[in-house]
Amino acid sequence: MSEELYIDKNSSREEKYKSLVPQIQALISGEPDLIANMANISAALKEVFAFWWVGFYLVKNNELVLGPFQGPVACTRIALGKGVCGSSWKEAKTIIVPDVDQFPGHIACSSASRSEIVLPLIINNEVIAVLDVDSEHLNHFDSIDELYLNNILNLLTNNE
Ligand code: SME
Repeated sequence: MSEELYIDKNSSREEKYKSLVPQIQALISGEPDLIANMANISAALKEVFAFWWVGFYLVKNNELVLGPFQGPVACTRIALGKGVCGSSWKEAKTIIVPDVDQFPGHIACSSASRSEIVLPLIINNEVIAVLDVDSEHLNHFDSIDELYLNNILNLLTNNE
């Protein structure tokens, strides 16, 4: 697999995801290292969608610790139930925040971030990490993002 992505820049967001998912699958297939795969997934999502911030927090010793990401520097540790990431981890569910100012306890790593989606990565019924994607635009994420970002996380789960 060549380490280059081929995406039609003029296509819709859903078409971009549809084209990206198999390319990510090819990119990470046969590579068992979770961190390496998270790093490439972060880079691919940043490259294709120019999201403000995209990256992973990993559950370590009962807190979330910053993992592979693309974008501005970010907070390193997040407690269970804190912020959008800690809530997604605690509830083991995806959270879409259309306006971060309306989310009680939102952790503002970057003041430019206006909306956010966080998805849990669940392996053997346990949240082992979360994928956090931030936008500098309000109301930037919807069920299309949830669907395809979940597909991408499933590639990680099935690659073990
Ligand atoms: N906003 C997140 C914190 C992580 S950063 O945005 C990269 C939260 O509230 O959990």
